[in-house]
Amino acid sequence: MARILVTGGAGYIGSHTMVELLAAGHDVVCLDNFSNSSPEAVKRVQEIAGREVRLFTGDIRDRSLLDSLFHAVKVDAVIHFAALKAVGESVAKPLAYYENNVAGTLTLLEAMRAAHVMRIVFSSSATVYGNPDKLPITEDAPVRPFNPYGQTKAMVEQILRDWCVAEPGAAAVALRYFNPVGAHPSGRIGEDPADIPNNLFPFITQVAIGKRERLSVFGNDWPTVDGTGVRDYLHVVDLALGHVKALDWLARDHGFVAINLGTGQGTSVLEMVHAFESATGAKVPHTIVARRPGDIAACWADASLAHRLLHWQATRSLEDLCASGWRWQQANPEGYRTV
Ligand code: NAD
Ligand code: UD1
Repeated sequence: MARILVTGGAGYIGSHTMVELLAAGHDVVCLDNFSNSSPEAVKRVQEIAGREVRLFTGDIRDRSLLDSLFHAVKVDAVIHFAALKAVGESVAKPLAYYENNVAGTLTLLEAMRAAHVMRIVFSSSATVYGNPDKLPITEDAPVRPFNPYGQTKAMVEQILRDWCVAEPGAAAVALRYFNPVGAHPSGRIGEDPADIPNNLFPFITQVAIGKRERLSVFGNDWPTVDGTGVRDYLHVVDLALGHVKALDWLARDHGFVAINLGTGQGTSVLEMVHAFESATGAKVPHTIVARRPGDIAACWADASLAHRLLHWQATRSLEDLCASGWRWQQANPEGYRTV
């Protein structure tokens, strides 16, 4: 069992991953600046797992904090979630995104190297593929993101690739997530958007609970099964387990590898609305509106490399994912802010 530093551990995916790391017997150290999360999430992770997380409140760009953290605790590997992630905001504030996501990662890697911590799992995204030429998407597809957020992910992947060449002992896995949704089955942790959600699934749950009047479906004239956009929705607990498997890979291999984490199945917006309604009994009023600028028609993963290298595959159904997200939304209508 290892001691893992989780940057951005209080966030949506980080909190679910900390639960699975603790369940697998790892020790967990969390570093978060709470710019997009709440300490309450860390409390609830501990409550679910029945184990302690060692929490450092601070920023990945703070080199002296990182040095004292690595001095205070012996870390075996890092899972690096901390980043800004809103596509629209990244277009408006590119420098903030490059600063936080790219410069922040450089600071983290320098501190890791100084502390002889040479293993890292990095949160990348299917957004690095931009508009794919063919489906399903394999990892050798061209990397050509079309917004600053996606550029930061592609840049960090390149930095990690070069770092692994330069440092013989280094090992890095970039996990290219497709669309993580849903929540822990306990309903105690989940996605907690600070503002109006940009993404489909949290918007659906907020409409279903009556916080928003109706869902706008962005276009029904895409070249897809029913004209609405198709994505690969992945249960966040499956995604979290992918990180535990990636750590196992880091322990037995070295060098850089980029791996898709998705289900391999595409679901349209209307299919998702119907799946949600039938899994929960709730209603999701919706209206078709114009396409969203920057959208693509369809995107789903070829997840065979994850199966081959990590022995991982998504096992949770669309129904599980809808039911868990709904349980979280109902129990926490204002997210962590109710506390
Ligand atoms: P999130 O915003 O919920 O979590 C990110 C966490 O990082 C937050 O707790 C935030 O406070 C923290 N953070 C941000 N900048 C920091 C800094 N400089 N120092 C310390 N902490 C900092 O996001 P998430 O959905 O859990 O995403 C986690 C990672 O996965 C991100 O890197 C994101 O880009 C990537 N990703 C997310 C999705 C998705 O759909 N959610 C898809 C693909 C990739
Ligand atoms: C978005 C981001 C992507 C990020 C991903 C992760 C953009 C342009 N892309 O992608 O970079 O990696 O989230 O979560 O923001 N939809 C509606 N109505 C809504 C919201 C969405 O119809 O209110 C549709 C979209 O048009 C799309 C599908 O639902 O067809 C999924 O959208 P979303 O959840 O935003 O995910 P992505 O578009 O894949």
